[in-house]
Amino acid sequence: MTSAEPRLERILFTEEQVNQRVDEVAAEISAHYAGRELKLIGVLKGSVFFLTALARRLTVPVKIDFLAISPFVNPAGAPGVVRISKDLDEGIQGEHVLLVEDIIDTGFTARYLLRNLASRGPESIGLCTLLDRTTRRLAQITIDYRCFEIPDRFVVGCGLDFKQLYRNLGYIAVLKPD
Ligand code: IMP
Ligand code: MG
Repeated sequence: MTSAEPRLERILFTEEQVNQRVDEVAAEISAHYAGRELKLIGVLKGSVFFLTALARRLTVPVKIDFLAISPFVNPAGAPGVVRISKDLDEGIQGEHVLLVEDIIDTGFTARYLLRNLASRGPESIGLCTLLDRTTRRLAQITIDYRCFEIPDRFVVGCGLDFKQLYRNLGYIAVLKPD
């Protein structure tokens, strides 16, 4: 690790490894949706870097749209409650939709978003994530495409942040514990 990033412990996946996996997953997605048009829906801001990398590699016609969520804090401390703070610009009725996430952790966010999007009448809906931390999963969801499974450590890079920093790193790194 370079001294320019003193808060990072080690690189988990290099930029080359990330690019290779994105190539492979994009090929899988292109094959699955061949002959159809696909709408990628990104969750701001974490999925932006992965979504654009993926979109550039897809061989099917692609539309993109974004939504943003904020954790809904309630006094009872119920976990996994999220609300949409910026909705999609357009409807998804009759479209093939792929929800693109940076990381699936507990799975609460993805489960909420998949249910919400499904209620809008898409032709199909799938889930694609850059990272999958299976050890902390609490909500049962099906992930259709994933690039990497990761250990139970906080990671940054490729869109993932710590206090809004490190999203622009081309690699995935483990943050030093405090
Ligand atoms: P969950 O699957 O509902 O628990 O939510 C996952 C969300 O938590 C992701 O979209 C990220 O915004 C955030 N998150 C979880 N783990 C990490 C991490 O290791 N680094 C950065 N953000 C994370
Ligand atoms: Mg996120």
